[in-house]
Amino acid sequence: MALLTWQDKYSVGIKQIDDQHKQLIIMINELNDAMLAGKGKEVLMPVLNKLANYCVSHFAVEEKLFDTHAYPETADHKDKHHKMTAKVTALIGEVQSGKSTVSIEVMNFLKNWLDKHIMETDQKYSPYLKSKGVK
Ligand SMILES: [Fe+2]
Ligand SMILES: [Fe+2]
Repeated sequence: MALLTWQDKYSVGIKQIDDQHKQLIIMINELNDAMLAGKGKEVLMPVLNKLANYCVSHFAVEEKLFDTHAYPETADHKDKHHKMTAKVTALIGEVQSGKSTVSIEVMNFLKNWLDKHIMETDQKYSPYLKSKGVK
């Protein structure tokens, strides 16, 4: 069963961004399924790395839109992206070294972060960017 499912409430009304959020949900579910199937580090690490890389490129796409359209809350939003990137990078290091593993707790963190970030932080730019003609 999927850990996280796309819902219309997640839509920020910008197709490229919605598609990327959908892709992030797919990757979180893929990681969750691998964890639940008891897969080892050699399977989990590539999935985790793929998710982290996709996160970084997604954040860059959003941040480019903020810069292009002079979004007033750019600094706060970028800070949230940087903190998440740092956490995921730390997690990758811990899983790689065997100090930690992908657990239900880790999956709930990823799921709750994405849900909250889309609903509270990404949704904030939606009216602004749409008013600038982004779609
Ligand atoms: Fe986002
Ligand atoms: Fe964001």
